[in-house]
Amino acid sequence: MPESVLQQIQDEMMALPGVGSSILEISHRSADFDAILDDARSAVERVMNVPDTHEVLFIQGGGALQNIMIPANFCTPEAQTADYILTGAWGKKSAGEVKYYGDLNIAYDAGDTNFNHLPKQSDLKLTPGAAYVHLTTNETIHGIQFKSMPDTGGVPIVADKSSDIMCGPLNVADYGLIYACAQKNAGTSGVTIVIVRKDLLARSADRLPSYLDYAKHSKAGSRFNTPPTFSIYATGLVCKWLESKGGVEKIEAENKHKSQLIYDVIDNSAGFYTGHVVNKDERSIMNVVFKMPSDELDARFCSDAKNAGLTTLKGHRSLGGIRASVYNAMPVEGAEALAAFMKDFAAQNG
Ligand SMILES: Cc1ncc(COP(=O)(O)O)c(C=O)c1O
Repeated sequence: MPESVLQQIQDEMMALPGVGSSILEISHRSADFDAILDDARSAVERVMNVPDTHEVLFIQGGGALQNIMIPANFCTPEAQTADYILTGAWGKKSAGEVKYYGDLNIAYDAGDTNFNHLPKQSDLKLTPGAAYVHLTTNETIHGIQFKSMPDTGGVPIVADKSSDIMCGPLNVADYGLIYACAQKNAGTSGVTIVIVRKDLLARSADRLPSYLDYAKHSKAGSRFNTPPTFSIYATGLVCKWLESKGGVEKIEAENKHKSQLIYDVIDNSAGFYTGHVVNKDERSIMNVVFKMPSDELDARFCSDAKNAGLTTLKGHRSLGGIRASVYNAMPVEGAEALAAFMKDFAAQNG
């Protein structure tokens, strides 16, 4: 979270300005919350330049529920097959839920090389007339990020952008549906931003349990049941912070700079640090994943870094090594401090 947003939340916690009560106690049906919800929705629309063809929804249940809602809504008797492009652990998890509602086609699986590369267009085994093509634009654990979308021949692209939403400009019109749990770049846990092409809302047409139906969330204005009021409020504040910083163009330049500071140390370390992703242009500008020649060095790196005030660097348990996340709220100074620490550590231990 940006520090200034945390400060604002602290300042407003006892009483929202002009409201007199806390965000934690106002009714989700009150005019005051109406204003907060509308404000958060328009802030997301502005930051992401969402066209009229698409609608922003706030839903609970995180990425895990989206993994179910997507096939539930979009796999129909006319288009039963959903194509999944697997470039990391999150996409694999998403694919695991399709079987309850449709037929799964793995259009590409980079798992054989432990998700260290992206497919080329010619590698994809897409199904003509598929219900949709799912991909994870930024694989958080493996540190690999799509910089452009594949050609799906008109089949809607469904993208998990949980760890790179708002990291830079995006043409929302290229997507059938975008989803992102908010807790990386867009607020706190508890709310998931879903941006859906309006014409796709008709696909589920009353054949689903109510909560799973996007059309019902849309009809209820993201208030099908009690919404996560605090998380929606926080998302609004984070979006406004992003606008105050100059928007997604500016933040993208900053994210590229922060990640490059760390990649440069890796690339100039004469093999002491090894990045997980093979091709430089596929490396994530959000999660920098690398390792050292031994598990012992990885562990020492984390404990020495912690002593130097640099925390949360341990790689995901499934991959080991180090993961430096430089989400939007990470200041440039944070990346600079890590890069300097890495140079020292390599000099002492290489
Ligand atoms: C790409 C991606 N998808 C999904 C999730 C998590 O989803 P959930 O909200 O179900 O925990 C994460 C969280 O780290 C993620 O990085």
